[in-house]
Amino acid sequence: MTTTTAAEALHQPLTLREGIVLRNRLAKGALSESLARRDHSPGSRIKNLYRRWADNGLGLIITGNVMVDRRAIGEPGNVVVEDDSAFADLVEWAQIIKSGGAAAWAQINHPGRQAPRTLTPQPVAPSAVALPGAGGMFAEPRELTVAEIEEIIARFATTAGILIRAGFDGIQIHGAHGYLVSQFLSPLANQRTDEWGGTPENRRRFVLALVRAIRAEIGPDVALAIKLNSADFQRGGFNEDESLDVVRALAAEGIDLLEISGGTYSSAAMLGVDPTLKESTRRREAYFLDYAERVRAELPDLPLMLTGGFRTAEAMNDAVASGAVDLIGLGRPLTVEPDVPGQLLDGTVTASTVKPKRSGIRLIDSLTELTAYTVQMWRMADGREPAPRRHPAFNVTAYLIRNGRDSVRVGRRGL
Ligand SMILES: Cc1cc2nc3c(=O)[nH]c(=O)nc-3n(C[C@H](O)[C@H](O)[C@H](O)COP(=O)(O)O)c2cc1C
Repeated sequence: MTTTTAAEALHQPLTLREGIVLRNRLAKGALSESLARRDHSPGSRIKNLYRRWADNGLGLIITGNVMVDRRAIGEPGNVVVEDDSAFADLVEWAQIIKSGGAAAWAQINHPGRQAPRTLTPQPVAPSAVALPGAGGMFAEPRELTVAEIEEIIARFATTAGILIRAGFDGIQIHGAHGYLVSQFLSPLANQRTDEWGGTPENRRRFVLALVRAIRAEIGPDVALAIKLNSADFQRGGFNEDESLDVVRALAAEGIDLLEISGGTYSSAAMLGVDPTLKESTRRREAYFLDYAERVRAELPDLPLMLTGGFRTAEAMNDAVASGAVDLIGLGRPLTVEPDVPGQLLDGTVTASTVKPKRSGIRLIDSLTELTAYTVQMWRMADGREPAPRRHPAFNVTAYLIRNGRDSVRVGRRGL
């Protein structure tokens, strides 16, 4: 691969710490594949998809969210890892991801209240507060007991340990986008008065406990990262100042990489849907670059990945060359242009052409974005190429036909 000026900084290897090196600065952000088998093991379709991505030049590939509890499903077709029952399958999945030279990290998650009622009829959460603005898709959650909180922490550690034994090079905690970790951090979602809520210190106790429990399980040699919101983009919610305090605490725990994102699925700033995203942010291509610069100024030694909005080699390269961030995360571009990382690196293309189609209605736009890109991943899982020019309505219909069927099936089983 020849180095072009436009992408020069993107070619540089990244040493997170001794022994943990990524070959370049382009990473695949987590994309929920909705492709697992009925028993929530990864299966062959997910492996086909990652085979398609494995040779595309990325330095790091992070899986879509893998759930830690089969009673708590965030999207139809989530992979769940609770025990060794699908171990051989996980080993093969990790091998495929790494086969082209990228590092393979698994993202692990618990959806808490952000779990569709068809999949998780009785969700659990820090407090019995329903997700606002989600049009009745999510049931009101039940408040977790302290014993259940401790059990979930142990589950995260167990899942992480199994994935590392299966051959993954690292673990990323999903601490963003309104799932359980975000819910604990949010003053709106977490209204507890015990040691797990009430003050900012208590609200961040859960994520810090996760980091310690997972590190104890996976040992010191593999990467442990977290994806965190800069803010939830909800009035009175988790904001940038508080996010920065959480980052300081995570850095003190010795995390290897912080990935910065933002928003929840009812206000999908991570997909650029939220109208309150600052105009300066939009102009800079990457949605959360201003916040990343704040983190960098405060914690210059903490490796940073930034995901959301990057499309041109120039903006990606500038973000790294300026020292603002270390790693560029790509999501939607990879679902429609699976070869784009290598092309950006060797200068064959100067930008991804992905452009969201917008109706202006926030919830509809958030869901259309997700379904349209999920359907593209399914095409690759079936050995076909993406079809980015198809009308969004076609993709949404394809999604509903397949996942409507799955949701009814799972709902009847009473997960
Ligand atoms: C279909 C789809 C599924 C996603 N699943 C996840 C996920 O499992 N975990 C996660 O942290 N982010 C998830 N995201 C968010 C992406 O990782 C990324 O933050 C977002 O797409 C913005 O980056 P982009 O502008 O490059 O697409 C998902 C996004 C899409 C479109």
